[in-house]
Amino acid sequence: MAKCFYIETVGCQMNVLDSELVAASLRRAGYEAVDSPRKADAILFNTCSVRQHAEDKIYSALGRLKNVKEHYPHKVIGVLGCMAQKDREQIFKRAPHVDLVVGPGQLAQLPSLLERIADGRGPQIEVSLDRKAGNRREIEESFERYDPARDAPARPFRHQAMVRIMLGCDKFCTYCIVPSVRGPEQSRPVEEIESEVRHLADQGCLEVTLIGQTVNSYQSTADGRTFRLSDLLYRLDGIEGIRRFKFVTNYPRHMTTDLLEAVRDLKRVSPYLHVPAQSGSNAVLKRMKRGYTVEQYREMLAATRETVPGAAVTSDFIVGFCGETEDDFQQTVDLVRQSRFRNSFIFKYSPRAGTKSAELYEDDVPDEVKRRRNNELLAIQNAISDEENRPLLGRTVEILVEGPSKASRKQPAGDMLQLTGRTVCDRIVVFQGHHRLIGTILPVRITQTNAFTLFGEPVIR
Ligand code: 5AD
Ligand code: SF4
Repeated sequence: MAKCFYIETVGCQMNVLDSELVAASLRRAGYEAVDSPRKADAILFNTCSVRQHAEDKIYSALGRLKNVKEHYPHKVIGVLGCMAQKDREQIFKRAPHVDLVVGPGQLAQLPSLLERIADGRGPQIEVSLDRKAGNRREIEESFERYDPARDAPARPFRHQAMVRIMLGCDKFCTYCIVPSVRGPEQSRPVEEIESEVRHLADQGCLEVTLIGQTVNSYQSTADGRTFRLSDLLYRLDGIEGIRRFKFVTNYPRHMTTDLLEAVRDLKRVSPYLHVPAQSGSNAVLKRMKRGYTVEQYREMLAATRETVPGAAVTSDFIVGFCGETEDDFQQTVDLVRQSRFRNSFIFKYSPRAGTKSAELYEDDVPDEVKRRRNNELLAIQNAISDEENRPLLGRTVEILVEGPSKASRKQPAGDMLQLTGRTVCDRIVVFQGHHRLIGTILPVRITQTNAFTLFGEPVIR
């Protein structure tokens, strides 16, 4: 009988992709995926360390499994990803019933590590080197690349796929744990990315999202020339079958003219740009070591809007960073009011052990102040998102139909159901339609909008 695994994923798109790749490799090794930990022989958590809250949730989920392990000692409990890399052996101390700790740079070893546990060889741990534990080459090598081939059925959605174009990050923003847990920035070779995208196109994939922590600092050499993200986009644009390319996440300082022009000129590249600002105050940006001033961010935004009219720009903000005054926060409010982002993700600062900000600055903004600033900024952004969506009312937009909406998953199965799709600007559209529309690119007339969702009806041509 096949052994069963259950995998729970938190965190960013990089983790979502890693879990998809892990699931595919376990299936190839003869495991079967199940939808509940109860049915699983191996319970895996792919974890995130960006904020304390994400870690607390994993530790309490692990705590709840203690009893399960007592009753079913052969069930394997595994912690994968960023928290595995960050906490390492400490995980066994806090949760002694855990069998397996695997960093993001060792995921390829997962099937063999599970085998070792099955052979009775006890708890297993595989993580990469600490960023100060060797020279750059040694550290890079310890963060092994992990982009095995995928089969169409293994993907949650056949028509969409993420493709990693680079791993790691070298920016070391002072609040951020990513450079420690995901290792040095390494771009994948162009040929490798190209052949992965071709393979996906052959499988019927229509939309590819290129992912990297600072995706627009992509750089690699092939045939004696340097390829930047814009060059890569030109190269991929030649691949038949893919109808849309998106890329996330952008670093403001690398939003160069060649990239903006590629977005403008390549019709299959979506005019959707996620470019986190993090703060509107120069004093805060400096303490964050973001490497730009708010004036430079505004210039980047103006150039983006000029080169790619109608571009949907989204951002991230951290409120309550060390030493953030009311005046600093007001400058962030001004930036949000004036920038008219299509959407912003807003986070309360969470100090991370091992980062510069946790070492150098006091986490001196009280939690209730962080919460108030978070809510205030969110309300401003939501009002803007609502206003930015309204002009779409009555217009026809093209969407890639992704599948049944959350609400319709609870309804009895039928041919007609509530479906969701996405525009090129990454807006979600909900409509009533036949299930065979899933995986098609469809014109939809917008009949209603709010800050988060558009509602529409298919246009029959
Ligand atoms: N606390 C709060 N938010 C953080 N982010 C990264 N590190 C932290 C932290 N220590 C946010 C940033 C980043 C997003 C993915 O998470 O806004 O863009
Ligand atoms: Fe973290 Fe900054 Fe790198 Fe983004 S650019 S992953 S915020 S260090």
